[in-house]
Amino acid sequence: MSAVKLALEALAAQPITITTPPPGPRAREMIARALPHLSPSLIHCYPLMVRRASGCMVEDVDGNVYLDAEAGVATASTGHCHPAVAAAIAAQAEILIHICGTDFHYPGYGAICEKLGQLAQKIGPNGHHWQTFLTNSGTEAVEAALKLARQHTGRSGIIAFRGGFHGRTLGALSLTASKSKYRRGFGPLLPGVYHATYGDLDSVEELFATLTTPEDVAAIVVEPILGEGGYIVPPPDFLPGLRALCTLHGILLCFDEVQTGMGRTGKMFAAEHTGVVPDILLVAKGIASGMPLGAMMAPSQIMTWPAGSHGSTIAGNPVAIAAGMATIALLEGGLVGNSDRVGKSLKKRLRDKLAGVAGVTDVRGVGLMIGVELDSHERAGAIAQLCFRRGLLVLECGKKAIRFSPPLILTEAQAQVVTEVFADTCAEANAASPA
Ligand SMILES: Cc1ncc(COP(=O)(O)O)c(C=O)c1O
Repeated sequence: MSAVKLALEALAAQPITITTPPPGPRAREMIARALPHLSPSLIHCYPLMVRRASGCMVEDVDGNVYLDAEAGVATASTGHCHPAVAAAIAAQAEILIHICGTDFHYPGYGAICEKLGQLAQKIGPNGHHWQTFLTNSGTEAVEAALKLARQHTGRSGIIAFRGGFHGRTLGALSLTASKSKYRRGFGPLLPGVYHATYGDLDSVEELFATLTTPEDVAAIVVEPILGEGGYIVPPPDFLPGLRALCTLHGILLCFDEVQTGMGRTGKMFAAEHTGVVPDILLVAKGIASGMPLGAMMAPSQIMTWPAGSHGSTIAGNPVAIAAGMATIALLEGGLVGNSDRVGKSLKKRLRDKLAGVAGVTDVRGVGLMIGVELDSHERAGAIAQLCFRRGLLVLECGKKAIRFSPPLILTEAQAQVVTEVFADTCAEANAASPA
């Protein structure tokens, strides 16, 4: 085994190790050098300069080792640099890096589309033959869905939900309604987009009664569980109710599973928790362990757009697909089950440990998509920063929540460490600023 691989294997087995309070001197120097050259629109939630990462562990340029409970924003599904994924990428890069899937054939493109179609058939009873358009990202999958829905139905209206996040390109941004900062200064956005209240079927009916007749609506686009908007699980009748409304009015039901898909919630797709079969299904993030890949899937009777309607030069790139195929094999080979098992135990551990802790108002989620609600935005922000300094990587979501979306390989022992460090951090935050 090469020295690099041995070092990565050792890193994956290392505990949290903070030897230099982060950001250390090398991180500070490198960040200061980089920042003047970067778009100021980037957020950088804390000053972490990553050198390498392996499994659930991330090492910074000063040698500090962190436990990653956010997986590069719910994307490094198989863990960082999984050897099988890295090997698939390396092998593919030796024979074909690019040729353009819109204009030419290569084996991987068909293989992953066939595979995704088989997975979509398992959501619930549906005899569909699914077809797939590959993208580079989540927002591109949303754009493709908007175009297909408009062209297929001949209608232009779209219904999305307040709290939803669907991406940052102009079409997808027209649906995004989790935080107004994403929209500030970018309007006017797409006309004919209406926002209902997440989890509330009556609010959709209200839109039909007041702002748009259902006959003008091409699609309802919804996250089966709110992601960026706060890791919120809707009431059980919500998705079936949307399905019924869409079927009644000839509207396409589009599930944005960019965050919830590919095993994140303990099922391959979150749709499987309800058995509700969407008309359009979107994935990205975890599908290729961090390589740029996304997918817009629909049954063949809906994927009716003709040749030339849509395409992309690099999307469905052979190297990204190789990572995707290796990722899917690992997900099917046990990681979806691990997400379910360790997700349940992590939620229980967090609930038990945080019960009665000042400032914590809720622990919720499905699989390894778990949110902890705090009593204020300031407390959530302070806790995220303190976690970083203690060697635990987490992100905020919603107005005042912390999200846990670790790699799906998280072990029980690591779930325990996540819980302990998080609880200690909450105590530290409370000592600094009592609830
Ligand atoms: C549900 C959902 N849709 C779409 C997107 C956009 O994906 P990307 O950042 O890959 O464009 C995201 C990203 O967080 C997401 O969570």
